[in-house]
Amino acid sequence: DGAVRYQVYYNDITERKRAEEEKRKLEERLNRVEKMEALGQLAGGVAHDLNNVLGILMGYAELLLIEIPEEDRARSHAEKIMQSTERGAAIVQDLLTLARRGINKTEVIDLNDIVSGFFNTPVFENIQDCHPRVNFKISCPDKLLKIKGSPIHLEKTLMNLVLNAAEAITEKGDVTIRTENLYLEKAIAGYDEVKQGDYVVLTVSDTGTGILAENKEKIFEPFFTNKITGRSGTGLGLAIVWGTVKDHRGYIDVQTEVGQGTTFTLYFPVTREEMIAPQQKKWMEEYMGHGETVLVVDDITEQRDVASALLKKLGYKVHAVANGEEAVEYLRQNKADIIVLDMIMVPGIDGLETYQKILEINPKQKAVIVSGFSETDRVKEAQKLGAGAYIRKPYVMESIGMAIRNELQR
Ligand SMILES: Nc1ncnc2c1ncn2[C@@H]1O[C@H](COP(=O)(O)OP(=O)(O)OP(=O)(O)O)[C@@H](O)[C@H]1O
Ligand SMILES: [Mg+2]
Repeated sequence: DGAVRYQVYYNDITERKRAEEEKRKLEERLNRVEKMEALGQLAGGVAHDLNNVLGILMGYAELLLIEIPEEDRARSHAEKIMQSTERGAAIVQDLLTLARRGINKTEVIDLNDIVSGFFNTPVFENIQDCHPRVNFKISCPDKLLKIKGSPIHLEKTLMNLVLNAAEAITEKGDVTIRTENLYLEKAIAGYDEVKQGDYVVLTVSDTGTGILAENKEKIFEPFFTNKITGRSGTGLGLAIVWGTVKDHRGYIDVQTEVGQGTTFTLYFPVTREEMIAPQQKKWMEEYMGHGETVLVVDDITEQRDVASALLKKLGYKVHAVANGEEAVEYLRQNKADIIVLDMIMVPGIDGLETYQKILEINPKQKAVIVSGFSETDRVKEAQKLGAGAYIRKPYVMESIGMAIRNELQR
């Protein structure tokens, strides 16, 4: 009858509208990337020449200051030239940072070191002095995974976000800086589309003015500002943030509400390079394996590879499979001292069901569970059946190592 037909038609349109909206958003993102790259290059290009010009101005202004006697009126003119040149030099420094895109000096970094380092700089003291009504809070848990990048650029990025946050607060308010490990089971579409994977996340949030919808598209462009030019307000801060995040192969998200505040979220991909650092050998001994066999079950290739690499480093013999069915199949023919079991696998049976089937083959099978989400009922159920610790993704070598050790010795 008519009512039914009407409903089908309606559903069709919503689906199409959603697809169109998604396409539009994707185009918007691609355009933004192109535009930002071009603007960054343009801005950076003028910096070198400008720097030379400023150098000459500064040199002569200094000479004038030496030669003009204290009581002479012309001296204050020379002083003004000097001050302006210094301001110009600071802007050129930012432009040069933009020009130096494509960071080449990268190190394995703990982002917490960058945060605590920044809090001890005179730059931060200065921000605090200028914004006495702002309450700065930090929440940086230890055991942060490492990222690969350039400490100077990252510190500058943090500084710009914190400064913007403080400047957005007109009365009293809070600025919160947070770091955390985050495993994304699937891509999320925020301001950028953030791909599935392991990240170290830096968030800077404020309870300030928020950003108008019409400005949200422009804030990362070089020279976009709505601050009165003076000590601050060149509009280069977020351009530097954007460039730095892109050079670190990271992603940005912005959540903002006018009158409520703003949160900038930066996603930096995790590096596993720390696992070859020799100084870690010593404390690794506590949770080293002794050739026991481990079966890794995870539907995502990169996750499987990381787990395999870590566990091999720890001295285990590792076999990996891509889903629960394969795991069951494998254990019909082979033995594993312990399985490292991903909880959520699509398509196919999940971790709990896999474990139930495995227990039918070997009722004493040891296992630890890993998942990107917090402990669910399914996890608890698996633990009731005999599975050991639950480890949250992304994990450091120490947590998976300790969990496996404890389970094997139980
Ligand atoms: N936390 C925030 N809250 C509200 N608005 C913000 C925030 N961060 C950035 N903005 C807006 O984005 C604009 C661009 O920021 P950006 O840091 O690039 O330049 P700026 O702060 O104006 O100048 P500069 O950083 O060069 O001193 C700002 O002028 C402001 O309007
Ligand atoms: Mg700024």
